[in-house]
Order: sequence, then C-alpha cells, then structure tokens
Amino acid sequence: MRTEHGVHIDDSRELDHLADDSVELVVTSPPYPMIEMWDHVFGELNEEITQRLAEGAGAAAFELMHEELNKTWTEISRVLVDGGIACINVGDATRNIDESFRVYQNHSRIIDNFEELGFEPLPEILWRKPVNSGAKFMGSGMLPPNAYATLEHEYILIFRNGAQQRTFEPKAERRYNAAYFWEERNEWFSDLWTDITGTLQRLSEGELRERSAAFPFEIPYQLINMYSVYGDTVLDPFWGTGTTSLAAMVAARNSVGYELQEEFTNVFADRAAEIRGMSREVIHERLTEHREFVRQRENEGEPPEYIAEHYAFPVTTKQEKHILFYLADTIETTKEGYAVTHSAYRDHADVDPLDSRGQSTHADFT
Ligand SMILES: C[S@@+](CC[C@H](N)C(=O)[O-])C[C@H]1O[C@@H](n2cnc3c(N)ncnc32)[C@H](O)[C@@H]1O
Repeated sequence: MRTEHGVHIDDSRELDHLADDSVELVVTSPPYPMIEMWDHVFGELNEEITQRLAEGAGAAAFELMHEELNKTWTEISRVLVDGGIACINVGDATRNIDESFRVYQNHSRIIDNFEELGFEPLPEILWRKPVNSGAKFMGSGMLPPNAYATLEHEYILIFRNGAQQRTFEPKAERRYNAAYFWEERNEWFSDLWTDITGTLQRLSEGELRERSAAFPFEIPYQLINMYSVYGDTVLDPFWGTGTTSLAAMVAARNSVGYELQEEFTNVFADRAAEIRGMSREVIHERLTEHREFVRQRENEGEPPEYIAEHYAFPVTTKQEKHILFYLADTIETTKEGYAVTHSAYRDHADVDPLDSRGQSTHADFT
C-alpha cells in the first residue's frame, strides 16, 4: 500500500488545493482564541483583533478571532464528504483583560458555528492535560469567594458533515481491515480520556511541544483509527508540526495539511524520518496490549471466542476478525509532500514487529 501526504504552506481560510468532497476526516487543533500565545497569529489574520485587544475589548476580540476560524470551518464543510467526521481539539481560555478576569468558552462558540454550517454535533471527548501542579493554583488563596477553578482539560469536538452517515459496500475490505480491538473501543469511545500520557506521548514532548503547541500523538492517532478507514484522506487545516500527518502515516491513511509557518516543515521532516521505527513501535504496543488482554481473559476462564484471520490470537467479536495492521516501510518526498509505502503485517508465526530474529514474512523488517 502507498499513502500520500500533502503539505501546503498556505492559508486554510481558502483550501484552494482541495476539491469538493475530497477528504473523509478532519483532525485539527486551531490556534485557541484568547490564549495569549496566539494573539499575533490572529492579529495577522485580521489587524482589528490587535486593536480590540489593545483597547481591552476582550469580548469583541474573541468574536473576531472566531470569525477568522469560521472561514476555515466553512471550507471544511465544502471539502469533507457527506457523513465525514470533523474532530476539533480546543481548550477554553481564561484571561484578565481591562482588570476583568473571565473564561472565554471556545468550545461552545465552535459548536454553534459548526451547527450553523450544517454539521451534526456528536458526543464530544474531554482529555485531561498534564498541568504543572506547582503553578496550578497560583494567585488562588485560601479565602472565599474570589478564586477560580483551573482549566485542566481540553475538548475534542466531534461533528458529522450532514445528517447521513457514510455508507460502504457490504463487507468492504478497507473498512473491516481497519477494525480496532474490542478493548480499544471501550477506551477510545469513552468521553473522558485521562491516560494519554502513555509511551507514545514522548514523541511530541519537550521544547518542540512548547513552541508549536503540538498535541500528543495519541490524539490524532486514536481519532484517525476511530473515524476513518484505509484509503481515506485526513485533513489538518492547522497542521503545525504535522502530528496529524505522522499519525496518518502510522495508521496507513492519506493526509493533507495547511500551515502558515514554513519553519514547522523542518520539524516535521525530522519526525517523519523516524516513521519506520515509530510505526513498528506503535503496532508492537497495540499487539502486546491485545495479547495481554487475551491472557487475562484466559486466566479468568473467558477467552475471546473468535479467531483473527491474520493473527495467531483470538478476538472478542466477529467484527474484529479481519483486523489487519500495516507497517510503514519507506518514505520519500514528492511534489506535494511525502509518500509512504506500507506492508501488511500478519503474524501467524506469532512474530512481533519489533523482533528482529523472528521469521517475518516481510524480509523488510528483519
Ligand atoms: C495549535 S497549532 C497546531 C499544532 C499541531 N496540532 C501540532 O501537533 O503541531 C495551530 C497552527 O495553526 C497555524 N495557523 C493559524 N492560522 C492558520 C491559517 N489561517 N492557515 C493555516 N495555518 C494556520 C498556526 O501557525 C499554528 O501552527
């Protein structure tokens, strides 16, 4: 399998390179209105925003910032197929403007705007972000009533484009092969994600995360597995360092990104160069966790009932029988961005993707 990953250093308020109905999923995290680190970006999109902030008109600046984001949301409704899903990661902002402290609720403003564009809201997910506990209650004393709660979560707002779900031909292989495990379903479709500081988190930690506000790898990776099938294209109109494209490469989906700041493409190139190892690590972790789940079930005397067609382990439901993982093998640059080749990973010999001694059917990863 070969996947394509386009990168456009361009303004996503006009998705000029994309035809109508050309992407199946959107996963993105915009600059957050009223968070100071993004003031300059919004000021470049509309200079009136800088003036409003300077004169202390917080509510007016907030409205104008969402007007700019709304141009991208309008374009998304054009390029996303009917029934396609849009996942918007956003946090609310607390801010002191003109000596008045308040919260600016980005999530509710974005929900209103998507509804107006004809999207159907689906249940949202909250994820708990790591907060430096020392600084957490700064400025908040022990005396009532003027302290306020710390924002420790962000939202993943989820919308369907239009009233109808996507349909597939019966037994569509690209959909059945893209199944996830039953126990993954139980975690991923919870509306509260508290455990995304796992091993994969380090892929986007440190200085890089500070500078770019990159979201943890798990967020786009899980969303892509939840809401797209093989062969689909995932769009990130606020691409940053391209975490969404990395996740699409590991999940063997196509991707396309829009980003204003060219410097981030170098950061992405460094991350993408590691894609081969990264995909093996991720698939290894998913398989190891599933095997552990099976062992536990066996110990409890309730082993999963169904045999996976491509693997030597059982699975819990019929829908998981055709699950098939792909490993990223090679990456090359193209005119539009990158192309990645993938090979199906089957383990009838119970060989692990990371086990270099195993008798793999793919000479490529021994
Ligand atoms: C929160 S960051 C995204 C971080 C990204 N999820 C990652 O993992 O690196 C938002 C990004 O949107 C970009 N941006 C803001 N307005 C834009 C626009 N109109 N078109 C394209 N990119 C834009 C900013 O430069 C910034 O890199």
